Amino acid sequence: MIPMIDLKKEFGNIRDDVLAVVSEILESSQYILGKKVSELETRIASYHGVSNAVGVASGTDALHLALASLGIGHGDEVITTPFTFFATVEAIVYRGARPVFIDIEHDTMNVDPGEIEARITKKTKAILPVHLFGLPADMTRIMTVAKEHNLKVIEDCAQAFGAALNGKKVGSFGDAGCFSFYPSKNLGAYGDGGMITVPDPSIADIIKKLRNHGSAGAYKHEKIGFNSRLDELQAGILLIKLKRIDENNGKRRLKASLYRKLLSGDIITPFEKPGMDCVYHQFTIRSGKRDRIRDCLKDRDISSVIYYSVPLHMQVAVEFLGYKRGDFPVAEEAAEQVLSLPMYPDLEEATIENIADIINNV
Ligand SMILES: Cc1ncc(COP(=O)(O)O)c(C=O)c1O
Repeated sequence: MIPMIDLKKEFGNIRDDVLAVVSEILESSQYILGKKVSELETRIASYHGVSNAVGVASGTDALHLALASLGIGHGDEVITTPFTFFATVEAIVYRGARPVFIDIEHDTMNVDPGEIEARITKKTKAILPVHLFGLPADMTRIMTVAKEHNLKVIEDCAQAFGAALNGKKVGSFGDAGCFSFYPSKNLGAYGDGGMITVPDPSIADIIKKLRNHGSAGAYKHEKIGFNSRLDELQAGILLIKLKRIDENNGKRRLKASLYRKLLSGDIITPFEKPGMDCVYHQFTIRSGKRDRIRDCLKDRDISSVIYYSVPLHMQVAVEFLGYKRGDFPVAEEAAEQVLSLPMYPDLEEATIENIADIINNV
């Protein structure tokens, strides 16, 4: 079976380095919030050109703690996209806040900044854009609206480590950038992990307390916090992978351009525009014949996944928000047409040619 992502191959490329760092950490007997976590935080902050980064237990926790640190709480409204992974919305609900959806742009499948102003109320506290599939949302327009209305901006960068808009990395535009190191992410750990990039050191301090039981030092608890610490083993492994992230994102771009060159007919390939550096966390095509394409790929042992078949406003878990089918037609149409194809840095050209042939024949 051709997988969506070949983690075995990736491990083979870095095996010796990973085993060495795992052994070093196990020998050190410092397993939680040690030197590797601090080094990773420093490197990720500097990679993004922000003063702080704080490691946490997952991408979901990154969103949750970022919202908490910025004072988003009960009764507040947070404007976001209905076309994303469910965690984006769960984090808002954890805070007792209300997710307010706006539709997406047809081309980018990211939130449509033109829809924000109409949904702002007295309760609106923040905008939470997602850089979906590795493509930056339109942060220039989003930051302009946020400034005009004095709203916080929390970027969901779970799928977009290294993506940039006019040379500025995602996660460095808003009040917080939230990253996931889930193993299949383009910067993935060998377990769960997350990181928050933050320009304001006082917010970083709050997050550091929140991730560790509200603690401001040994057994001094200033807040009711959480247990959301990034562990040393994951940080050590991520430091190895971080060294290769630009090279690997570059390889993903090359694979994407080959797919784009070979796919023909009425297949819509991912949107690209000068100045938008997509990292192709997914290579997601659109077609009215999506299900037939999927079946044909499956018959030839090629994986493909529908991210996402049900937009969030139509999910059972958030029925209490009162949305219904038809509220966000662009997101609903995307859910009926999208198909993500195998994508990873070492994906072979011959495999891409084969996949493109199968799709073109449909
Ligand atoms: C857009 C988006 N946000 C948030 C998350 C949550 O990250 P994690 O699985 O690390 O909690 C994910 C992970 O799949 C994601 O894709």
